[in-house]
Amino acid sequence: MRAGRFIFVLVAGLALLAIAGYFGLTQTTRSWFERDLELRSTLAVASARQGLMANWGAASTRLSETLTDITRDERIMAAAACSSTGELLASTDAYPTQFSCRSVLERMQEESPGSPTWSMTPELPSGPIHLSVTRLDGAGDPLGAIVLVHDLSFVSRREATTRNLLTLAFFVMALAASLFTLLAVRFAWRGWTSDLQRALTGAAPREFQPLVRDVRELAKRLAMEHEREAWGGLWSPDRLRATLTQHLQGERVVILANREPYIHEKRPDGVAVLHPASGLVTALEPVMRACSGVWVAHGSGTADRETVDEHDRVRVPPGEESYSVRRVWLSEEEENGYYYGFANEGLWPLCHVAHTRPVFRSEDYEHYVRVNQKFADAVCQEVDSDDPIVMVQDYHFALAPNMIRSRLPRATIISFWHIPWPNAERIGICPWREELLSGLLGSSIVGFHTQQHCNNFLDSVDAFMESRIDRESNAVVQGARRTLVRPYPISIEWPVHWLDGAPSVSEARAGVRAELGLAKDALLGVGIDRLDYTKGIEERLSAVDTLLARHPDLRGKFSFVQLAAPSRTKIPMYRELNERVEALASEINAKWSQGSYRPIILLRSHHEPAAVFRYYRAADLCYVSSLHDGMNLVAKEFVAARDDERGVLVLSQFTGAARDLTEALIVNPYDLRQASDALAAALDMPVEEQRERMRSMRRLVSEFNVYRWAGKMLADAAELRRKERLVGRFSSSAVLSRRGIA
Ligand code: G6P
Repeated sequence: MRAGRFIFVLVAGLALLAIAGYFGLTQTTRSWFERDLELRSTLAVASARQGLMANWGAASTRLSETLTDITRDERIMAAAACSSTGELLASTDAYPTQFSCRSVLERMQEESPGSPTWSMTPELPSGPIHLSVTRLDGAGDPLGAIVLVHDLSFVSRREATTRNLLTLAFFVMALAASLFTLLAVRFAWRGWTSDLQRALTGAAPREFQPLVRDVRELAKRLAMEHEREAWGGLWSPDRLRATLTQHLQGERVVILANREPYIHEKRPDGVAVLHPASGLVTALEPVMRACSGVWVAHGSGTADRETVDEHDRVRVPPGEESYSVRRVWLSEEEENGYYYGFANEGLWPLCHVAHTRPVFRSEDYEHYVRVNQKFADAVCQEVDSDDPIVMVQDYHFALAPNMIRSRLPRATIISFWHIPWPNAERIGICPWREELLSGLLGSSIVGFHTQQHCNNFLDSVDAFMESRIDRESNAVVQGARRTLVRPYPISIEWPVHWLDGAPSVSEARAGVRAELGLAKDALLGVGIDRLDYTKGIEERLSAVDTLLARHPDLRGKFSFVQLAAPSRTKIPMYRELNERVEALASEINAKWSQGSYRPIILLRSHHEPAAVFRYYRAADLCYVSSLHDGMNLVAKEFVAARDDERGVLVLSQFTGAARDLTEALIVNPYDLRQASDALAAALDMPVEEQRERMRSMRRLVSEFNVYRWAGKMLADAAELRRKERLVGRFSSSAVLSRRGIA
């Protein structure tokens, strides 16, 4: 089709060239012929001059004979002798009578006065003729003129021959050109097609690589759009389940995470089920409910042992029982070394820029190795095939991926690092940096929240490991093994199930204010965190202090409630933080309290998610002031809680969430003036602006929810499995054929 169009244009171009060539050629040859004939006429008259002069005055028969002699030339048709006054003196028989001597001489006088010769090419019914006039002078006096008539039909004949030849040449050339074009296109196309085929299956020649990238991008986009249309836009548990069954043929997922999603605790009145304050649990629990499978975790609750079966498993969520938690038991020593020691006194401060020195004890690291092995073994017991999908979570399990890989070489292991990955210089201070990197490189995919963390990881591998970094596809290559390093910004479920049956915003506002002893119209800010030094809780309370110092009108009107879940309290740093926060809250309260009014309300206890969501809905603003945070899901939860499209989020620029939630008021939490300005702006923000900002953030969180996060990782894992299977098939058939078996 395309070649046909090309040939049509080619033939049309050639035709135009042929026509233009024909006209150019006839014009030129005709002017050559005419000049030729003029010369011939002059020569003929010159050679007959003696005879003409001699017979000029004589009887017309003699002159006629001389004229007849002249016309013996085969091209000269007729001749006439005219007197200088325009009378016909003599002529041959064929002389066309319409060209009288008078008329011819008059035209000559008009068109070329004083010239010795003149000519014209009129058209007669018998064909074109050339008529030339040559003056004849005798001893200085004009005698008259000789008119010669040439037959021009031979020129027309020649022109017809030229036209025919040109037409023939045109057809031959058009045919040849079309043929060559078709052949060239066919050969080139065959070459391109095979290059393109090779390119699309992975072995792209250099010049095809940009095209292949674009094609892949396009295919991905189209597939995404197709999926989006099929699922009506948003990612949901159903869509995630379908991704798992379609892309991974229904293989179940095994999650490895230190923190369990449901903790069974002994209470005086029986066993209570608690939902831990953990970003990881917030994100992964809905994913597990959607996918089913097993969550392998540390059994840390006081009633955990009583609630498992003989395989240390318990079905959850209570009442729904859609997946299992496999509990792994740790001795106090193990927990101290692995969890409190290496993970939380070593890796946690190492990865967060929060100015707390990491502590690296080799006994802790030894526990970390042993506990990682213990969990890796538990994972291997829970899988139901030799190529399972295992999702390893966080800094507690940097070594587990490689341990799982050595027992299950065909497993697809997706590791996700929920906290920041520091730059290479910083990771370099860890005495076991190579072990950590090599452990993680046992994964098929290593995921982080941001591209920056991916870059830091790749730089660290580059600095400390024997491997090749494929920057083009963000992968680490070690021998035949490839680990993809990708950003997957984590999120929350949408819609949040904790909002089912939650009190309305106005009920929550009134209820929370009454409980806290605040006036009905009091302005309220909220902060929700584990009590952790990375969360910037001291900076947050100080920003409230600065706000009240700079805005006296807010004293007595604005209070900030901080829900602080005690966390890792065995670690001295955390205990000290507890005390410092307590002291700071008291100090600020002492400064600004009036009557029953307290600016800071510090609630240092665990709050279940339903209670947390009630606070989000009751508040006028939420301040997330982390000094460094991989993502921070409190920010996204606050947005999800505000279906009334009111409330303002003030967000630290050092959180991963600040990259997604750009309509929040973004601040540097260390800059108390700037943070207090943002708090003041939030309290003063017109409803319309609150709505606009909130609406846009809600759109983002709903679209980029945790089902999408998990879906993307699973889809990438599926793609990887597909490729590995193909490569495996190719290499095994190559081996067989090398051995002459296939
Ligand atoms: C962070 C970590 C999670 C952890 C959570 C709670 O979000 O990335 O892995 O679950 O803190 O900490 P905890 O030590 O109580 O599990």
